[in-house]
Amino acid sequence: MAESEIEVRKLGAEDAQSFWQLRLAGLEQEPRAFTESVEEHRKMAVDEVARRLKGTVAHGNFVMGAFTKNEDRLVGMAGFFQRPGPKIRHRGLIWGVYVQSEWRKQGVGRLLLAEVLRLARTIPDLEQIHLAVATDQSAARRLYASLGFETYGRDVHALKLGDSYVDEELMLLQLKG
Ligand SMILES: CC(C)(COP(=O)(O)OP(=O)(O)OC[C@H]1O[C@@H](n2cnc3c(N)ncnc32)[C@H](O)[C@@H]1OP(=O)(O)O)[C@@H](O)C(=O)NCCC(=O)NCCS
Repeated sequence: MAESEIEVRKLGAEDAQSFWQLRLAGLEQEPRAFTESVEEHRKMAVDEVARRLKGTVAHGNFVMGAFTKNEDRLVGMAGFFQRPGPKIRHRGLIWGVYVQSEWRKQGVGRLLLAEVLRLARTIPDLEQIHLAVATDQSAARRLYASLGFETYGRDVHALKLGDSYVDEELMLLQLKG
């Protein structure tokens, strides 16, 4: 089980290179699951990633990482983002959830999301957490549903890859109200 082999912690600037590599792997292997393209990601310098990871830690804006305990290798990630404006800061957004294929189905995704939700619940003013998940990513949809997320809509043709489209399910976890 993941808990004995995996440590979950927030990423910092020192994790920029590992984040960059894992994100690239995710975008290459699961193009239908993410909005960002491989080309866009490749243009992002590791220094810029480090700056963002450093700058975000203190706010309602972070990336959680799953590291192997024996090699301290990053094998999974989940991002959280809260826009700061007074009319929108009751909402958070989960993005970039990805676990390396050889580590799947061992509870890593669930550990990551549990830690994201635990931290999110400590953020003042936060009332809801939103996410969008491709309708064909059944593992992710089941994971979110099992954590209490409910579907409230469908974003038709949310993504276009060549001639094919991806519809996304819009999901929401209500924390308050
Ligand atoms: C979604 C993802 C992060 C799950 O990671 P994981 O570490 O394999 O997930 P876990 O082992 O913690 O499983 C958690 C739950 O997800 C669901 N799940 C996981 N793998 C599944 C599969 N192959 N089929 C159906 N449900 C699955 C189950 O509900 C599972 O709970 P259970 O074990 O109690 O039945 C991983 O499959 C992934 O990276 N997918 C590709 C990227 C993606 O779709 N990201 C989401 C973008 S919004």
